[in-house]
Amino acid sequence: MASKLILSSPNSLLLQNPNLQHHNHHLLLKPTTNMASFPNLTNKVKAFSIKCAATTATPLSQSQDLEERVFNFAAGPATLPEKVLKKAQSELYNWHGSGMSVMEMSHRGKEFLSIIQKAEADLRALLNISEDYAVLFLQGGATTQFAAVPLNLVKPEDSVDYVVTGSWGDKAFKEAQKYSKPKVIWSGKSEKYTKIPSFDSLEQTPDSKYLHICANETIHGVEFKDYPDPKNGILVADMSSNFCSKPVDVSKFGAIYAGAQKNVGPSGVTIVIIRKDLIGNAQGITPVMLDYKIHAENNSLYNTPPCFGIYMCGLVFDDLLAQGGLKEVEKRNKKKGDLLYNAIDESKGFYRCPVDKSVRSLMNVPFTLEKSELEAEFIKEAANEKMIQLKGHRSVGGMRASIYNAMPLAGVEKLVAFMKDFQARHA
Ligand SMILES: Cc1ncc(COP(=O)(O)O)c(C=O)c1O
Repeated sequence: MASKLILSSPNSLLLQNPNLQHHNHHLLLKPTTNMASFPNLTNKVKAFSIKCAATTATPLSQSQDLEERVFNFAAGPATLPEKVLKKAQSELYNWHGSGMSVMEMSHRGKEFLSIIQKAEADLRALLNISEDYAVLFLQGGATTQFAAVPLNLVKPEDSVDYVVTGSWGDKAFKEAQKYSKPKVIWSGKSEKYTKIPSFDSLEQTPDSKYLHICANETIHGVEFKDYPDPKNGILVADMSSNFCSKPVDVSKFGAIYAGAQKNVGPSGVTIVIIRKDLIGNAQGITPVMLDYKIHAENNSLYNTPPCFGIYMCGLVFDDLLAQGGLKEVEKRNKKKGDLLYNAIDESKGFYRCPVDKSVRSLMNVPFTLEKSELEAEFIKEAANEKMIQLKGHRSVGGMRASIYNAMPLAGVEKLVAFMKDFQARHA
């Protein structure tokens, strides 16, 4: 019986095999008398144990489920809304009665078309994106866009401006050097990327074709609260880590791009919002997969797209709309951010956030300990309390709490309570 399941029905083994027991994050396969008739299998399988981070061999009760969830402060891939995960779980095996999962569907079939079209419509509703803009669901991460932006928007001899407020903006600038003539017109590097420049002080290149910013620097926790007007050309923004965290006036931008894996879905999907009149001028060397025209003409279905990721983004957009849209989402994010920054500022120097108060990110909160030798202990104790991924990026050290849309207020409250307790014990 067990062997029959293993050999003939691999996709139902975990769901149907009564010999699979859920136990402490291990799946235990108990040897049975039936299996004794398959000596080759029993020899190998007797104390068979697969370690996994989370198992769904049998449906878990809600309380077990909650017990097993951590507060995940990772910068990305990051925590996703519980409601969305549960919805995806409930639809995983048989999406809307289609008899298959989203992972198994043709990307050109009517089922997936309805998924991608709804995802796009919901994103347009969330950000109030007009028909003057194309919305593309692409692959390759925001890193690919560092090249795609100059390849699509300018010629190799064209000047373009970059405001560099952190490591991601710097990477975007370096990649643009291969395909255009970029200039860093402001860099926060000498001040360890803790500031955003005043827009009046920006010396923009007179014939620059675009002005590139990183709207939220994930590593340094620096966020544009408003946007500069390009003197010439258009504004282009990497919004990977604050995408859909607040309302944005898309009409101010020529192009916006974002990797999904922070605020709106799993890794593997990159969203590009691009003004339609800017499409169609890609450099001759542009690979077909980087050409916005190809993707716009084919509604993001030129080749096989990251279907499951797009489906997950769609569930997140639907959830954000159900929460009341991005104004409501921003209110919640402000509440969480205030709570955490106040705890840092009121700690009498025990904790410190290096970023200028006016441009502190509501998504990524970097902080250090006055007694830096305690940082490893802080991270370890927090993890024991099921608050994980609080270590700062390896390039800056310290701690970083990423509190994207999907981080519940309860997660930030728990972190703040822990910080106060830690301080009381170690001050
Ligand atoms: C602001 C920003 N831009 C770009 C990237 C690179 O994204 P990807 O890894 O999806 O290429 C990241 C990744 O963390 C990021 O935070």
